[in-house]
Amino acid sequence: MLKSKDLLGLKDLGAEEIYEILDTAAQMKKLLSSECKASDALRGKSLVTLFYENSTRTRSSFELAAKYLGASEVNISVATSSVQKGETLIDTGETLDAMKIDYIVIRHPMAGAPKLLAEHVRASVLNGGDGMHEHPTQALLDIYTMREAKGQVKGLKVAILGDIKHSRVALSNVLGLKKLGAEVCVYAPATMMPREIEKLGARVAKSREEAVDGADAVMGLRIQLERQHGGLFPSLSEYSGFYGVNDGVMKYAKKDAIVLHPGPVNRGVELTPKLIDGEKSLILEQVTNGVAVRMALLKLLGEYREANGL
Ligand code: CP
Repeated sequence: MLKSKDLLGLKDLGAEEIYEILDTAAQMKKLLSSECKASDALRGKSLVTLFYENSTRTRSSFELAAKYLGASEVNISVATSSVQKGETLIDTGETLDAMKIDYIVIRHPMAGAPKLLAEHVRASVLNGGDGMHEHPTQALLDIYTMREAKGQVKGLKVAILGDIKHSRVALSNVLGLKKLGAEVCVYAPATMMPREIEKLGARVAKSREEAVDGADAVMGLRIQLERQHGGLFPSLSEYSGFYGVNDGVMKYAKKDAIVLHPGPVNRGVELTPKLIDGEKSLILEQVTNGVAVRMALLKLLGEYREANGL
């Protein structure tokens, strides 16, 4: 059983809770892969997606996850909602609560916005990405994909390359992977490397070859142009030339290493198109697993709600 009504970050989850989510996601993937995906596990429940930033994967996979489990789902379009009239996040949350919503999935540019919302609503709040802080469901689906491909997470060598500093995906992955006993090595231009990353247990490599050396999984991260202020690297072609992952760099990884990316990918910048579309790439499998992981989270949080009279 999960220990909270909300999913705000991997920082708050214990290893046992992460394993429970991964095991439940494996059951959900069987349902998702069956001809009739319908289940009534969450019949009568309702989910709202409240996204203050753009999304393709996270929002639609939460909406599909709710549908496959029999819940109703509604998207609040922030651009045309009363947020534009100055309504506060807490007032928006309390308004949704008054409609007896069970789950709110929020993406917000401000780190901590999901936590603030969670403190003011009865609904379970799921963090769909908050600023440069956490993106817990993305990391859970990444870890699920690694475990599915490699059998276990403990002892895996994972290389994460790209814009570590501005990436909520990187932080959630480092937190989750370390809790499950993986080794994490990161590499980025100095302007995209947070100073405190080693305190979380990640090793900082001096070159992309060193980062990838002996890796079981290599993850490229999107250049977060929308979160950068000022030139952090000279040009995209120089970035890909010095920091991108290509076949030459992958020769340093294990022969059976997998390639991951949370998406959306800047093709030819973080990864070459050949790697993105190649046989080592599990990027589309990550998308499938994202639906299974989000189904698992809705189911497990639903059980928490029932057990706690919510
Ligand atoms: N990886 C991810 O969060 O993708 P979206 O922005 O499309 O949701």
